[in-house]
Amino acid sequence: MTEREALDLDAADPLPTRRAEFCVPGESAYLAGNSLGLQPKAVRERVGAELDDWARLGVEGHTRACRPWLPYHELLREPAAALVGARPAEVVVMNSLTVNLHLMMVSFYRPTPERHAILIEDSAFPSDSYAVRSQAAFHGYDPDEAVVRLAPADVLGYLRARGDHVALVLLGAVNYLTGELLDMDAITAAGRAAGAIVGWDLAHAAGNVPLGLHETGADWAAWCSYKYLNAGPGSLAGVFVHERHLADRSLPKFAGWWSTDPRTRFEMAPTVTQVDTADSWQVSNPPILAMAPVLVSLEMFGQTGMEALRAKSIRLTGYLESLLDSVCAGRPACVITPRDPARRGAQLSVRVSDRDVGPVSRRLREEFGVCTDTRRPDVIRLAPAPMYNTFHDCWRAATALAAVLDDGGAR
Ligand SMILES: Cc1ncc(COP(=O)(O)O)c(C=O)c1O
Repeated sequence: MTEREALDLDAADPLPTRRAEFCVPGESAYLAGNSLGLQPKAVRERVGAELDDWARLGVEGHTRACRPWLPYHELLREPAAALVGARPAEVVVMNSLTVNLHLMMVSFYRPTPERHAILIEDSAFPSDSYAVRSQAAFHGYDPDEAVVRLAPADVLGYLRARGDHVALVLLGAVNYLTGELLDMDAITAAGRAAGAIVGWDLAHAAGNVPLGLHETGADWAAWCSYKYLNAGPGSLAGVFVHERHLADRSLPKFAGWWSTDPRTRFEMAPTVTQVDTADSWQVSNPPILAMAPVLVSLEMFGQTGMEALRAKSIRLTGYLESLLDSVCAGRPACVITPRDPARRGAQLSVRVSDRDVGPVSRRLREEFGVCTDTRRPDVIRLAPAPMYNTFHDCWRAATALAAVLDDGGAR
């Protein structure tokens, strides 16, 4: 594994990196895009444009800004739909991820005494676990009984055997800890065949792997946009509701003035006029300053295209995997992410068995300029994001990890 090889791979790759379009802290090898993606340089100017319009126009900006604010979220609809493989009416960008999980469960978790289980993965992200437990409790069920936590490998069998008591399946399409990409088609089909609602948390999947939500037949999905989508810390999230639910007036929803038909919104009627799109799950008027970076992000993904990004991602992650295998050989570390590229996205997780990973990650950053992240006690996550990472970044990360692992315990 030589630096020259990595540089040659970068020079020869059919999809050139867009690294120069991002702010890269300290020119690091930034492999933490699965946690917080880098800032596209275009964001500053785009947010500045909205600030300028606000300064120049005040309230008039709602209709007279360069990109008028009242219908601003419409600009995000088509690119967001393309990103997740949905029809435009099925998606809306709003709120943050866990808030959207709750709004979706208001409509799609309708427990009965016979059918009230919520199936999640045993390594679900804590926010999802807290959210489903609180929903079960809200409906008067004991979360310890209602929430079923399963290893991903056991989900299909469980749905076949015990699916008749499952009200909701809610899984992370790409697991935050292991990087495993689940078989969304098979699980969605099995969940629906069992009579359950199937929702997906796409936090680690959106912008990472190609998605075909509409075709998959999932009932709903939600995702954040601060990871692979690079829209900034705490940036706005997205929601997908399958077309077959869009005109269902029987679904309970929490409403606000952004739930109502925009054509009559300013008639200030006391009741909502429903629309037959995912917009009907909106509650508040959207934060334009937060939407501007999402628009930049979606434009960048539209320009490069998920298929090309995925192809590059498979090349980059495969290369990093081969380097990490050499690093791990003879050292107390191993890659725990599935080996089949079809069963993972960009992230590789390394379990280090002889020490706390916190200091390892800190030394990687401080001594080698390699930015990774950790999940204590023993997992380091490295995600070469195909939009801006290079083969050289992968090489830097692997050689640095070898040096830190050889250099004893915590400092
Ligand atoms: C899988 C998953 N679900 C939920 C969340 C929580 O997201 P938020 O804080 O934006 O609600 C995260 C955050 O990283 C996540 O990775």
